[in-house]
Amino acid sequence: MATVTFDKATRIYPGSTKPAVDALDIEIADGEFLVLVGPSGCGKSTSLRMLAGLEDVNGGAIRIGDRDVTHLPPKDRDIAMVFQNYALYPHMTVADNMGFALKIAGVNKAEIRKKVEEAAKILDLTEYLDRKPKALSGGQRQRVAMGRAIVREPQVFLMDEPLSNLDAKLRVSTRTQIASLQRRLGITTVYVTHDQVEALTMGDRVAVLKDGLLQQVDTPRNMYDRPANLFVAGFIGSPAMNLVEVPVADGGVKFGNSVVPVQRDALSATSDKTVTVGVRPEHFDVAGADSAQGVAVTVNVVEELGSDAFVYGTAQIGGEAKDLVVRVGGREVPEKGSTLHVVPRSGETHVFSTSTGARLSD
Ligand SMILES: Nc1ncnc2c1ncn2[C@@H]1O[C@H](COP(=O)(O)OP(=O)(O)OP(=O)(O)O)[C@@H](O)[C@H]1O
Ligand SMILES: [Mg+2]
Repeated sequence: MATVTFDKATRIYPGSTKPAVDALDIEIADGEFLVLVGPSGCGKSTSLRMLAGLEDVNGGAIRIGDRDVTHLPPKDRDIAMVFQNYALYPHMTVADNMGFALKIAGVNKAEIRKKVEEAAKILDLTEYLDRKPKALSGGQRQRVAMGRAIVREPQVFLMDEPLSNLDAKLRVSTRTQIASLQRRLGITTVYVTHDQVEALTMGDRVAVLKDGLLQQVDTPRNMYDRPANLFVAGFIGSPAMNLVEVPVADGGVKFGNSVVPVQRDALSATSDKTVTVGVRPEHFDVAGADSAQGVAVTVNVVEELGSDAFVYGTAQIGGEAKDLVVRVGGREVPEKGSTLHVVPRSGETHVFSTSTGARLSD
C-alpha cells in the first residue's frame, strides 16, 4: 500500500500550448479512495494516465509512496488499471482472464490458481470461473475486469470510468460493490468519473477538475456544504444549486425579500455591485402566502419522485425573472400555475463573486 502524490504535475500534449492538466497538486493518503470528477475534456483521463505512466509528464512530479515514479515505465510502478473498455479475452475462461497478467509475469500455476480463487471469492465469481465472458452479464464481466486488477495485488488501483458500460441500475449496485471492496482491500485507489453522484457516493475525497485546473479537493460532505467557487457549486448536486445574481445591499445581499447575511470583509473584498447567491433546492422553506419574507415562485413544472418533489418555477428577483428549483415534500406538491412562497433557510445560503467565481461567504 502507498500514498500517491501529484506534485504540480503538468501535461502539455504535442502541438498544444495549453496544458491538458495544469500543475495538479493532490496528496492521496494510503488506502484512500480518491475520485477525479469533472466535465468531458477537463483532464481526468490525462491525470490518471500520467500516474499510470502512459502519458509523459511535462512539469512537476508524481510519487507513489516515497518513490519518484515520474519517469518510470508503467510496469515498474506497481499499479493496476481498470478501463472503461475492459475488453476481456473472449476465448479464455474467466479464471484465465483473471490470471493472465500473473501468467505473463511467470508466476507458477498453483500460485495463480490460488490468487484467482481468492479474488473470485471476494468478487462473488467462484461459480463462473470456467465460463467464457460471453456467458456472463455486464456486471459480472465488469467484476472479472476488477478481478484481473486484484490478483496482481498492486500498491495502487486506477480506474477510468469502469462503470460506463453498465446500465443505470447495475451501475448503482456495482458502484457500491466497488466502494466496499476497496475499503476491504484497503488499496489506495484513484477513480475517474464524469458523474458527480458517483463521485460523492464512492469517494473518501473528491477532486473536481475544470479545464485542466483543480477546483477543489475535499470530502463529499464539505464539497456539497462549502463549494469553493461557482463552478463547483453548479457542478456538485442534482438538481443543481440555484445560482442567482443579486445586488449587494446593506449588511448582506438581497434575495427577494430576504437579506442573506454575508461577512462585511467578504463583501468588501469585492468591488462588484452584484454577487451570486446560491441556494440548494432543499434549502428553501415554504412560507404562507401572506409572508413578507422570501420570494413568490410561479410553478411551471412539478417533478414528483414519491418521497419528495422538485418544483421548477419562475420568480422575480431584483426586477428580473429567474428560474428556480425548489424541493418540497412528496405530499405537499403545489399545482402547476400556482404560486409558492419560499424563504432561503438561514445558514444554508452561499455567496460567490460573480466576476471571479470565488466563494465570499463562510
Ligand atoms: N493524445 C492527445 N493529444 C492531444 N490532445 C489530447 C490527447 N488526449 C487528450 N487530449 C486533450 O486533452 C484534454 C483532456 O483530455 P482528457 O482525455 O484527459 O479528458 P477527460 O476529462 O478524461 O474527458 P472525458 O470525460 O471526455 O473522458 C482534452 O482537451 C483533450 O482534447
Ligand atoms: Mg476520460
